[in-house]
Amino acid sequence: MKAEVIRLLREKGSYLSGQELSQQLHVSRTAVWKVINQLREEGYAIEAVRNRGYYLVESADVLTEAEIKSCMKSQWMGREVEFLQETDSTNTEARRLAEKGAKDGTLVVAEYQTAGKGRRGRSWTSPSGTGIWMSLVLRPGLEPACAPMITLLTGLAVSAGIEDYCGLKSQIKWPNDLTLEGKKICGILTEMSADMEMIRYVVVGIGINVNIEAFPEEIAYKATSLYLESGKKIKRSGMIACIMKRMEEYYERFLDTADLSCMRKEYEDRLVNMGRKVLVLAPKGEYQGVCLGINDDGELLVEREDGTVSRVMSGEVSVRGVYGYV
Ligand code: BTN
Repeated sequence: MKAEVIRLLREKGSYLSGQELSQQLHVSRTAVWKVINQLREEGYAIEAVRNRGYYLVESADVLTEAEIKSCMKSQWMGREVEFLQETDSTNTEARRLAEKGAKDGTLVVAEYQTAGKGRRGRSWTSPSGTGIWMSLVLRPGLEPACAPMITLLTGLAVSAGIEDYCGLKSQIKWPNDLTLEGKKICGILTEMSADMEMIRYVVVGIGINVNIEAFPEEIAYKATSLYLESGKKIKRSGMIACIMKRMEEYYERFLDTADLSCMRKEYEDRLVNMGRKVLVLAPKGEYQGVCLGINDDGELLVEREDGTVSRVMSGEVSVRGVYGYV
């Protein structure tokens, strides 16, 4: 009911009477009043004026299950939400839920992670109150070789969702980092449980530096936040909802063909490496080339100096700009 109260107050945009709320929600006015008080305790600024009702002053960047649900616009992606003030890692929590049968599209969001995980066994710093740290449980019913494509489409969905919400056009550093002005704003970590023929589930973890005001000196040259780039503080719940809407769209399109053919162009439009010199750090040695884009399976196409085109698979290698991070 909390999510509904928030949604109704937000939709009204002015005063909504306790009477109207109680009628729409089929509960007593006392029940409405109790929820309003709980919401205030959680950080919402709700004005109450006699004979007029309640008015939600939209400003606070509150993150709770009800707040996230009240913003959601997707049909099914992210409609089941588990919100935690603190967890070890939303990926680990999503895996625990998946093992217990959580359905396709279940979303885990945390305000703070004590053991956030990055790619290649690195840790991911997840300060409280300033980032989006979330993971999705997906059950695509496809073979394990398809999993890397889910990472790529997630990068595309997050980039598009951020743009829908606040107009910032981030770029994708293949396979799945998002950058603004050449610095990282988002990382994606995909984990999978599968048997020989079939994926049991995929957990796709998304970490976005949203309102972070400063980074430690060691990473400040390659990491930034949406706030640092735009000068504006962002309400995370609305952004999560926009990302879930895009995620649903791209994931459904992907399931139709089991490849990225129908979003390749959009991916390449956002690809920061496109047409640039890249350094491929492959297990058998490194080489340079020019990035030509991706193929339908999401492999990066790199033209080497001798004119041959190599297909680079994600997971196998790291790709950098010749002079730095991008
Ligand atoms: C990377 O770029 O190395 C990937 C970073 C992924 C971080 C996110 S934050 C939410 C989810 N939970 C985790 O423990 N990791 C991912």
